[in-house]
Amino acid sequence: MPATSALPPGYRLHAHDTLDSTNEEATRLARDGAPAGTVVWALRQTAGRGRTGRSWTSEAGNLLFSLLLRPDVPPAAAAQLSFVAALALGEAVSEVLPAGVDLRYKWPNDLLLDGRKAAGILLESAGATGCGLNWLIVGWGLNIASFPETTEGYPATSLAEAGAVGVDAGDVLARVLRRFDAWQARWKEEGLAAVRGAWLERAARVGEEISVRLPRDRLVGRFRGLDENGALVLDLADGTSRTITAGDVFF
Ligand code: BTN
Repeated sequence: MPATSALPPGYRLHAHDTLDSTNEEATRLARDGAPAGTVVWALRQTAGRGRTGRSWTSEAGNLLFSLLLRPDVPPAAAAQLSFVAALALGEAVSEVLPAGVDLRYKWPNDLLLDGRKAAGILLESAGATGCGLNWLIVGWGLNIASFPETTEGYPATSLAEAGAVGVDAGDVLARVLRRFDAWQARWKEEGLAAVRGAWLERAARVGEEISVRLPRDRLVGRFRGLDENGALVLDLADGTSRTITAGDVFF
């Protein structure tokens, strides 16, 4: 359990042994009026969830936590916090990784170590009040000690598998929150540009051919980068380009 002093000011930790899902618990707390900065951490989840309706394997020894935010910006801008969350995670993880491990971001917010998925992030929001969201929950799942052998579409890994042995989940949680707080402040002041630049520096497969699965379609093209809002820009073989705001990327 990290010391309160390890968390940035204004963040309050709710630690649990087992929960259905830290995102779900954070949602319950949000409905009950909990403030921004509420953090929910569980050692295990019985109903951990991932993006696009998938489940998230949630074994003890891995890091599973969620942060409640109440961003006073329109939903499209709040979605940019997904890059803030990915950067915070990537920087925290790079502090505990041995040298030589290739750490990359996969759009929109997965973390790859040597080409395999070690972490995912799930953003869930509700109820616009005025121009802002009522709440936004950011949930991080990081494989520290173990990883699922079977995953949909993508090989998984863990910090231990990548050579970072004995990493303490509470310590990484505090590192992620400190990085998140710093990057969020910068994002509020300067917008997405700096966050986007830092994300692109470590993005996987920029300039290379990727495949993107959309709800009703699959596109193959060259990953040009991100537009000013964080959407993926894909150059297609016919010379046109597509700007994609939601989808799953495959290499
Ligand atoms: C993904 O599909 O890549 C996103 C996975 C996000 C998993 C985390 S674990 C903590 C939080 N609680 C959940 O139920 N999901 C997120």
